[in-house]
Amino acid sequence: MLTGLSAVSSPDRPRFAYNLTSVEGFRAIVEWGEAHRMPMIMQCSERYLRDLGDTYFENVVVPRLARSEVAFVLHLDHATSLQAVQAGIQLGFSSVMFDGSGLPLKLNIQASADALGLCRQARIASFEAEIGHVGGAEDGDDEETRYLTRVEEAQQFMAEVPVDFLAVSVGNAHGQYRMPPKLHWDLLEALHHVISVPLVLHGGTGISPADFRRATKLGVQKINLGTELKVAWMRGLALAMESGEREPDRIRSAAKRSIAETLDRTERILIDV
Ligand code: 13P
Repeated sequence: MLTGLSAVSSPDRPRFAYNLTSVEGFRAIVEWGEAHRMPMIMQCSERYLRDLGDTYFENVVVPRLARSEVAFVLHLDHATSLQAVQAGIQLGFSSVMFDGSGLPLKLNIQASADALGLCRQARIASFEAEIGHVGGAEDGDDEETRYLTRVEEAQQFMAEVPVDFLAVSVGNAHGQYRMPPKLHWDLLEALHHVISVPLVLHGGTGISPADFRRATKLGVQKINLGTELKVAWMRGLALAMESGEREPDRIRSAAKRSIAETLDRTERILIDV
């Protein structure tokens, strides 16, 4: 069954959203969710949507999730144009994030409002946008104070674009952090105080379990995890190759197992927060 973010997460049950970057990752997440009868959030960026291909989503991903007895969210991550949003809707994504965070505030508001309109019209189950900018950890963007979400801007954004989930920049960034990230707790608390919808923390890879839990007490209900699954995939492949395995199906199974092991660990972090 395909559903929206609010159906599988709540303030008492914050969830990770796992980025799809491989066929093995997709299988691992579906099988993990079904084996544990646990609704799961998976998401795909424009880049990996292109890589995996429209037909893979249309003919494999969407039908497979739709017929499952377990609820899955298929969320479009970081769509940066209305065409990308439209394409995601047509492919059958159940939830959409529009990312206008690279634009000046006024244009971000305008573009996000347009994207929200498209999604509401298409009865997309949930919509996320970003205020402030979550950059790249490899570039040290987590230390860039100019990217942090400003409380007044977030309030203005919400007044004009009533999104379901709001991604914020509080010292988090995508990819591998160069130094352990230092989240701005006062800022997150101030945002939680004035923003009534659930907050989203991008750039989950490298943030400690203790910080995840602390963030969930301050309004964060969705935490994005991407790089960690890529690393797990590569580790699985590398170990299989090193052990002398040369059959692609077994090498891919090793990558899938490695991702499943990561899910075993991460899914325990947010239980009983
Ligand atoms: P990481 O790759 O740093 O875990 O971030 C994923 C993400 O935020 C996708 O939107």
